Amino acid sequence: MKKIGIAGATGLVGETLIRVLESGPWRIVELRLFASGRSAGTRIDFQDNELEVKKLDPKGFKGLDVAFFCLEPELAEEFVPEVAKRCPVIDKSSHFRLKEDVPLIVPEVNPEAVKNHKNIIANPNCTTIPLTVAIAPLARKFGLKALNVATYQSVSGAGRKALEQLQFETECLAMNQEPTSPDPRAPTPEPRSPFPCQVAQNVIPEIGNYDPAGNTAEELKLINETRKILSLPDLLVNVTCVRVGVKHGHCLAVTARFEKKAWWQSARTILCNAPGVLFMTTDEYSGPATIAEGHDEVFVSRLRQGAVPEELNFWVMTDNLRKGAALNAVQIAELLF
Ligand SMILES: NC(=O)c1ccc[n+]([C@@H]2O[C@H](COP(=O)([O-])OP(=O)(O)OC[C@H]3O[C@@H](n4cnc5c(N)ncnc54)[C@H](OP(=O)(O)O)[C@@H]3O)[C@@H](O)[C@H]2O)c1
Repeated sequence: MKKIGIAGATGLVGETLIRVLESGPWRIVELRLFASGRSAGTRIDFQDNELEVKKLDPKGFKGLDVAFFCLEPELAEEFVPEVAKRCPVIDKSSHFRLKEDVPLIVPEVNPEAVKNHKNIIANPNCTTIPLTVAIAPLARKFGLKALNVATYQSVSGAGRKALEQLQFETECLAMNQEPTSPDPRAPTPEPRSPFPCQVAQNVIPEIGNYDPAGNTAEELKLINETRKILSLPDLLVNVTCVRVGVKHGHCLAVTARFEKKAWWQSARTILCNAPGVLFMTTDEYSGPATIAEGHDEVFVSRLRQGAVPEELNFWVMTDNLRKGAALNAVQIAELLF
C-alpha cells in the first residue's frame, strides 16, 4: 500500500504517470497531485476517484512513500531539495542528473546505483533511456568504444505547449494559412512558440541552446548522461539531436563501435533477450505512431553490420512519455521499494 505525490500532475509527463500508476504495480491508498496555482482546483480521474490538483507546496509531501517531480529544471532546483527532506523524490528534470551524489537510473542498466541515493534520484532524458537500454547488453558483451547517434524526437518531448503549437500549425497548413505564432486560441498562450521555426511538417536540427562548441543542450544531455549511466566517463559520443513534426515517439539511428568484433547475428541474439527491448525484424517494423505510442518497450530494429566487424548499426524507438519518462520513473520507485 503506497502513498504517492506528483508535482506537475497536469503536464504531459505527469498525466502519463497517473495512467501508468493506475495500471501499475502497487495498491495506492493516497495520491496527491500538485501543479501551478493556475491548475489548482482542477479535478483528475484516478481509478474510481476524482482527485483535486493542489498548488505546489513542499509541506504537502509529508508522509508519502515517494514523490515524482515532472517540472522544468528551475522549479526542480527550487522545490526538490525541500520535498526530499520529507520523502524520496524521483525527478524527471535535467537539473540533478549529473550531480555526483544523485543516482541517475535506468532500471534495466544500472539498478545497483539506487542504493546510494540521498532522497533524490534522477530520471534520465527521454533519448538517453532508450539508447542505454539497447546499448548496455551489447556493451557488456563486446566492450563499447564509441557511439554515433542521430535522434528524431517528437514534439511531445517538449511538453504540452509544444503539442498545442503543433496542433495549431497543422490546422493552419491544412487551411493553406501561414502558421503564425503564437496560437491566439491556445488555452495556455505563450509569448512565442517553443520552437525556432515552424515545427509542423518540418525537421529542425536544434533542441535547446548551443554551447560554445556548437552542441545543443539536448546533445550534451545525451552524451553526459550515457557516460554516467554506463560508467564509461571517457566514452566517445557524437550526437545530432533533431526535432521532427510528429506528436509522439522518439527514434535514434545508432552506430556503435566496440572493442571486439560484434557480428550482427550475435548482437541480434543478445538484443532478443535484453530486458526492456523488443527486437523487430524489417518486416515487423513501422514507425513510432504505429508501434511505439502507448507501449512500454524499447523497440530495436534495422540491425546490421557497420563499416568494420567492430561496428553495428541499428534503429531504436520508444514512447518518450512512457519508457522515456513516466514508466522509467515508476520502475525506479519499484527498485526503491
Ligand atoms: N515530455 C517528455 O517526453 C519528457 C520526457 C522526459 C523528461 N521530461 C521532463 O519532464 C518535465 C516535465 O515535462 P512535461 O513534458 O510534462 O512538461 P509540461 O507538459 O509542460 O508540464 C509542465 C508541468 O509543470 C507544471 N508547472 C509549471 N509551472 C509551475 C509552477 N510554478 N509550480 C508548480 N507547477 C508548475 C505545470 O502545471 P500547470 O498545468 O499548472 O501549468 C505542468 O503540470 C520537464 O523537466 C521535461 O524536460 C519530459
